[in-house]
Amino acid sequence: MTLKVSIIGASGYVGGELIRLLLQHPEVEIVQATSQRYAGKFVHKLNPNLRKRTLMKFSDNSKLESVDVMFLALPHGIGMNKIDEFMKAGSKIVDLSSDFRIKNKDEYPIWYGHEHPRPELLNKFVYGIPEIHREELKKAQYVSKAGCLAAASILGLYPLFKNKLVETENIVVEVKTGSSGGGNKPSLSTHHPERSNVIRSFRPTMHRHTAEIEQELTFGEKPKIDFSATSVDIVRGILSTAHVRLINPETAEKDIWKAYRQEYEKEPFVRMVKESDSIYPYPEPKILMGTNYCDVGFEKDSRGKRLVVISALDNLVKGSAGQAVQAFNIMCGFKEETALEFPGLHPV
Ligand SMILES: NC(=O)c1ccc[n+]([C@@H]2O[C@H](COP(=O)([O-])OP(=O)(O)OC[C@H]3O[C@@H](n4cnc5c(N)ncnc54)[C@H](OP(=O)(O)O)[C@@H]3O)[C@@H](O)[C@H]2O)c1
Repeated sequence: MTLKVSIIGASGYVGGELIRLLLQHPEVEIVQATSQRYAGKFVHKLNPNLRKRTLMKFSDNSKLESVDVMFLALPHGIGMNKIDEFMKAGSKIVDLSSDFRIKNKDEYPIWYGHEHPRPELLNKFVYGIPEIHREELKKAQYVSKAGCLAAASILGLYPLFKNKLVETENIVVEVKTGSSGGGNKPSLSTHHPERSNVIRSFRPTMHRHTAEIEQELTFGEKPKIDFSATSVDIVRGILSTAHVRLINPETAEKDIWKAYRQEYEKEPFVRMVKESDSIYPYPEPKILMGTNYCDVGFEKDSRGKRLVVISALDNLVKGSAGQAVQAFNIMCGFKEETALEFPGLHPV
C-alpha cells in the first residue's frame, strides 16, 4: 500500500531531512514539497546530498495536493492559523512545529506570548514521542512531534518520573545544541564569524520546551524543571544533562537500571549507554549524526541524592524528521523502523 504524502515547508532543514528519509520509505510517494523561496527549483539544488536520488521540484503552497498524510515543517504560529486548510488536504497530519504540543491552552500565553487560536484542537493531536505514546499513535489522525531539546530531555528522564524515583523539585536540565537547530534562515547572530567557536548561553530561563517537558513528566504532581539552553559549535546534535534528586538516596544503581530497562529494553531507538571502558563512555551526539537513536546514560553521585542523566540525539532526526517518520510508521501500521535504519558513522 503506497501512501501519498506532502511536506509543507520542505525547504527548511527539517523539511530536507523529511525528504531524505521518506525517499527511502518503500510505502511512500512524496507528491508535493512546498517552498515559497525555491518554488520551481530542484530539491537537490538545496539538498546536494539528494543528487541522483530525486528529480522532484519544490512547488509553491498556493494549491495543496490531497494526500493521505501531510507533514508540516513550518515555523511556529503558521500551522495553527491555517489548520483548516491543512486538515482539508491531508487525511492525517504530522506537525513538526510547536503549534499543538502543549495540551493546556493556558500555557501558550506564558511560553509563547499569545493565546492559542484553536484550543479545541489541542487534544486531537497526540504528542509524538513513540516511546511514550505508542498506543495513542496507533489510532491517531493528528500528531504533534516533540521539540528536539524536549525529546532528548524527556527520553532521559521519563523512566525516573514514571517510577517516582526522583523528586519533582530541584531539577536542573542544561542542554547544548548545534546550529542547525535554528533553521536555515540566516541572521547576524548565525553568521559564521559570530556563530563559530561559540559556547553561547542563549536561553538561560523560560525556554519554550520547558512546558512540554513538564507536561510529559507529570505523574501526579507536576514537576518544576529549571531548564537552560546553550549553543555550541557543532552543526547537528543535542546533549542534555539533567540533575535530579533521588527521593531515596539509598536507591541502588541496579534499581535505576531496572527502571530504564523496563522502559527501553524493547525500544528500537533508545539505547542505554554506560561503558566506562569505552572511548565514548556516556551518550555523545557526534556518533548519532543522521541516526534516529536517542542514547541515554546516568551516573549516581556518591556524595548524596543527585543523579545525573545524560541523553543525546540528532536534532534533525530523532529530534524532528526521524521522530516524525517513526510516529508516521506507527500511525499508518508500517514497521516502526522503516526508513530509519541508518546506524550512523564512525569515525565522523
Ligand atoms: N531545526 C531543528 O533542529 C528543529 C528540530 C525540531 C523541530 N523543529 C521545528 O520544525 C519546524 C521547521 O524547522 P526548520 O529548522 O526546518 O526551519 P527552517 O529551516 O527555517 O524552515 C522553515 C520552512 O518553513 C517555510 N516557511 C517559512 N515561513 C513560511 C510561511 N509564512 N508560509 C509557508 N511556509 C513558510 C520555509 O520555506 P520558504 O521560506 O521557502 O517558503 C521553510 O521551508 C519549526 O517549527 C521548528 O521549530 C526544528
